[in-house]
Amino acid sequence: MALRLGFVGVGGIAQRHLNGAQAREDVEIVGHCDVDEARAKEVAAKFGGRAYTSPVELYDNEKPDAIVISTPPSAHGEIEEEACRRGIHFFVEKPVAVNMALAERVLRAAEASGVLTQVGYMYRKSAPIRQVQELLRGRALAMVQAHFYMPGLPGAPWYETMADSGGQLVEQATHMLDLGRFLAGDVRTVIGRTARVRDWTPPPGFQPQSGMRHFAEGFDIPDTTALILDYESGALGTLSCSIVPQGQWDVGFKVVAEGLLVTIDGPSARWTGDESGEATAAEDWPLAVLYEFLDCVIAGRQPSIPYVEGVKSLAVSLAGYESVARNAPVALADLLPQGVA
Ligand SMILES: NC(=O)c1ccc[n+]([C@@H]2O[C@H](COP(=O)([O-])OP(=O)(O)OC[C@H]3O[C@@H](n4cnc5c(N)ncnc54)[C@H](O)[C@@H]3O)[C@@H](O)[C@H]2O)c1
Repeated sequence: MALRLGFVGVGGIAQRHLNGAQAREDVEIVGHCDVDEARAKEVAAKFGGRAYTSPVELYDNEKPDAIVISTPPSAHGEIEEEACRRGIHFFVEKPVAVNMALAERVLRAAEASGVLTQVGYMYRKSAPIRQVQELLRGRALAMVQAHFYMPGLPGAPWYETMADSGGQLVEQATHMLDLGRFLAGDVRTVIGRTARVRDWTPPPGFQPQSGMRHFAEGFDIPDTTALILDYESGALGTLSCSIVPQGQWDVGFKVVAEGLLVTIDGPSARWTGDESGEATAAEDWPLAVLYEFLDCVIAGRQPSIPYVEGVKSLAVSLAGYESVARNAPVALADLLPQGVA
């Protein structure tokens, strides 16, 4: 029998997950929930299943085995908790929340229910990055240097406020902070600095365009951020991120390890030292994180990026902004829920 799959939040990134799910014969798409009813109906017409504006109605009417959650970061909470109450497994896009209190609430609900969870940290499932993880195993790590440069604000109209997105560290650079944890282990302390180096107010007569945005009303997030990270292993790390408009996306890492210098460029990697090589990610690499979730739900086993991993990576982002607020280093232990080390 096919896995009954529902979707909550069917905007931009959900289209990738919908197409990926539709391509699988062992999955039946049974319903879609979006606060934008027209969008839910449009997706239902294209991919099958019924349209809802309430997640609870989707859960109770369609009885999905699992759901894929792709809402804006500030919309999490009830969606996951009501799923847990009904034993519905969930895949959730990063970041899992914009604050630790809500992430902890959902974590406790997931733990109590025993549902299977996966967070959409897709870079962890890229084959070249997994190869790098193997190459680094057992080596002393010195420097984990990450960057996340974007050529402006994404199109969805909620990225520009702290309340809705959590800021670039929480919403976007979380990909690299999570990958740093994947490659180098947990972080002990974070020091952060933020800046806003340009005026994002739309000029008089400005006409919004499609694609990456260079102006936004109500913009209240830093546009440029730098972090220094102490890893528990003893390695040092840095993260530089900016949304100040320039020519292109540029996302990646340098990792300095004993005997090896690794360069990660998006999902691909190259390395040099006591061995050298390079690996390019397959074109469909972003689908692997969802497919692992679906395979695991069908087999009844926990996927490799459970909700608690999302909580721990969120804590690194929040520690960065908290460090700016306190003008002092912030220990992850101060932010993580009890029992999460
Ligand atoms: N892994 C990746 O590569 C990747 C890429 C893009 C976005 N994302 C993540 O996916 C999430 C969604 O981003 P997006 O770009 O698709 O945003 P989006 O704005 O295009 O889509 C979000 C959808 O959720 C709906 N929504 C809002 N509140 C809701 C609620 N309470 N219940 C149900 N639906 C609700 C909106 O109407 C919209 O259709 C974000 O967390 C983002 O970080 C991940």
